[in-house]
Amino acid sequence: MDPASGLDAKRDVLLSEGKIAAIENPGQIRAAEAEIFDAKGLVVAPGLIDIHVHLREPGQGYKETIATGTAAAAAGGFTSVCAMPNTVPVNDAPETTRWMQAPERGASARVFPISAATRGSMGEALTDYAALKKAGAVAVTDDGKPILGDDIMLEALRAAAALDLPVIQHAEDTRLTGGCSMNAGVLAFRLGLRGMSVEAESSLVERDLDLLKRVKHGHLHVAHLSTKKALDAVRAARRAGLHVTCEVTPHHFALTEDRIGLYDTNAKMNPPLRAESDRAAMIEGLLDGTLDAIATDHAPHAAHEKEQEFDRAPNGITGLETALGLAISILHVRHKMPLPRVLALLSSRPAQALGLNRGILAPGVPGDVVVFDPAEKWVFQAEGSRSKSKNTPFDGWELQGRVRLTASEGRVVFRS
Ligand code: DOR
Ligand code: ZN
Repeated sequence: MDPASGLDAKRDVLLSEGKIAAIENPGQIRAAEAEIFDAKGLVVAPGLIDIHVHLREPGQGYKETIATGTAAAAAGGFTSVCAMPNTVPVNDAPETTRWMQAPERGASARVFPISAATRGSMGEALTDYAALKKAGAVAVTDDGKPILGDDIMLEALRAAAALDLPVIQHAEDTRLTGGCSMNAGVLAFRLGLRGMSVEAESSLVERDLDLLKRVKHGHLHVAHLSTKKALDAVRAARRAGLHVTCEVTPHHFALTEDRIGLYDTNAKMNPPLRAESDRAAMIEGLLDGTLDAIATDHAPHAAHEKEQEFDRAPNGITGLETALGLAISILHVRHKMPLPRVLALLSSRPAQALGLNRGILAPGVPGDVVVFDPAEKWVFQAEGSRSKSKNTPFDGWELQGRVRLTASEGRVVFRS
C-alpha cells in the first residue's frame, strides 16, 4: 500500500543494500539468498515519518537518548524522525546538528535534525541557516520558545526562504500564557489552574501568516496545531495562495482537556489538550486535507519530573509507539478515512511538507518499510515501551493496527 503512487495491490518487495531493490507481482522476484518475511494478510507500506520528536540528546539522556527514542520509533513503525533542537545545549550549531546524525548515536531510524532558528532559541539573532542546512538540518525552529518579535520572525522567514528551508513555529504567544498549565475554560477554573486561551495560539498563527505574505517563496510550517481558530486561519491563508503547512498530534485529535481528570500530569503538554469543539475541528481538518501531517511531538520526561504538582510538572508526553494505532482506530475505524489516506498523513505528506526524499515505495529509494496488521487489536502497555520514559496518557488503551516489522534503510530494526 503506497499512498504516494496510489498502489494498493499484492506485491513482493525486495530490500537489498539498504534500498528497495524491486517491487513485483507475487512470485516474480528471484533472490535465492534472501531472508523471507511472509506478510500474508498484512499491509506493507512506506516507513512512517514523524516530523516532530524530542530525542533529548545531547544533554538529557536520562529522559531519552537517540538510541532509545529511535528504538521506540521503530516499534511504532517510524523509519524517519525529525529531531527538535531544544536539547542541552540547544542545537543551534552545525557541529551539534552533525553529532546527532553520527553512526555512534546508534539510531534505529533516520534522524533528520531541525536546528534552532535563533541562537540559543533566544529569539534575538538568527543562526547560520546555510551552514545548518549543509550539516543536515531540514528546517529551522525555536520549538517551545516561539519567535515573538515581528522583525526577527520576518528575518527568519526570509533567510530560510532563500535556502528553501521551512520555518516551523510553535504557535503560542507566551506573553499571554505565563503561569498557565492547561487549556483556558471552566475546567481550568474548577481545578484552580491558569488556562491558555485559544487566542494565544491563533493570534500568533495569524501574525506569522501576515509576515509570510511579505516573503517571496517563504514557507511557514505550523507545529502541533490544536485550535479551530488557528486551523481556520491556515485554511484561509492556503486558499489565498500562501505556502503554509501544518501538523496535528494524535493526542489533539484523540483527547480533550477532560483527560486531565484530577491533575494527571501525563495529560499535561504544550499546546494543551483542548475542548471537544477543537478536537472535532482537528478531525475535520484531517478529513478535508487542511492538516498535512500527523506528528507525535514525542516528548519524554522522567517519572520524578512528572510526579509533581500539576503546574510544576514539565509539558510533554511520549507518542511514537501509539501514533499508528490511534490513527487507525480513530481516523480509519471511527471516521472511515480510507487506510491509504491515513498512511499518507504519516508518511508521504509529512515528507512533502518538509521536503524529505522519503515516504514512497519504489525501486531505488531507501529501504524504509513498515509491515503491520491493520485489523489486530492490542493493548498498549507503557511499561513495555522502548522509550526511556513512560509519560503517556494512553497506557492500557486498546488500539487497532499493530506493527509486525519495521525496516530502516534495508535493516530490520523491529519485529514483533
Ligand atoms: O509538550 C511539549 N513538550 N511542548 C513543547 O513545546 C516542548 C516539549 C518538550 O520538549 O518536552
Ligand atoms: Zn512545541
